[in-house]
Amino acid sequence: MLINGFPFFKKKNQSTINHSELHLGVIPKHVAIIMDGNGRWAKKRGLPRIAGHKEGMDNVKRIVRVATKHKLEVLTLYAFSTENWKRPKKEVDFLMGLPSEFLSTYLPELIENNVRIQTIGDFEPLPSLTKQAMTNAIHKTKDNDGLILNIALNYGSRFEMLEAVKKIVEDVKVDQYPIENINEELFSNYLYTKHISDPDFLIRTSGEQRLSNFLLWQCAYSEFWFTDVLWPDFDEKLFEQALSDYEKRKRRFGGL
Ligand code: IPE
Ligand code: IPE
Ligand code: MG
Repeated sequence: MLINGFPFFKKKNQSTINHSELHLGVIPKHVAIIMDGNGRWAKKRGLPRIAGHKEGMDNVKRIVRVATKHKLEVLTLYAFSTENWKRPKKEVDFLMGLPSEFLSTYLPELIENNVRIQTIGDFEPLPSLTKQAMTNAIHKTKDNDGLILNIALNYGSRFEMLEAVKKIVEDVKVDQYPIENINEELFSNYLYTKHISDPDFLIRTSGEQRLSNFLLWQCAYSEFWFTDVLWPDFDEKLFEQALSDYEKRKRRFGGL
């Protein structure tokens, strides 16, 4: 297989879902994942970083299958941050090509599985091919009522909040409502995530334990789960282990 001039990608057999008999009593409605560690995964194998991104993209497929199997309502995946533009152009270009590559092979399966694609992030600066692929997928899946697969693309929480503040100021200026009306609910309605609930569970792979500008407002009361495993190696079993750990968490939201 030749991708962007790199001949080393071999098509692997599609990983099949692990039909383990894991029965979860409490399922997080919304799981958000910071898919980190693609570059280190490649480096460990003496491959260029983009080989890790390709492998990471393939892993999205198996993780979506697990999310569908356990009937999650929303799976938000951090695919590209507002800070990731700092990377070498070659890597950024490769990352920007992944959504269309992913959807060109996988959209039929998503449609068949009743998955609805959504995105969060600043769409404007994305290359037109990336925008087209995402817009097409959003349109083709808009009537599906199964899992919402929410892709965070050129997403940055600080940018999101600043944009919200600007719009709120504009609306106050034209007397749409008085300042006193600004509360958590109103603010949330100005965010990209206005149609979806806050994440119940946030997973980050690769050993880093930080948010990297991801859903800062929305994760106020999310449960966090970290693993040293690199994203391309984060498999069905580990995802199910994380989900079963979530079951044991006691969420108090400040109460007793
Ligand atoms: C995550 O993997 C994917 C993106 C940020 C786009 P990285 O590319 O950050 O991989 P590491 O952290 O360098 O290993
Ligand atoms: C966070 O990973 C962004 C994505 C996974 C898309 P990074 O690799 O960019 O985060 P830092 O730089 O290690 O904080
Ligand atoms: Mg990283």
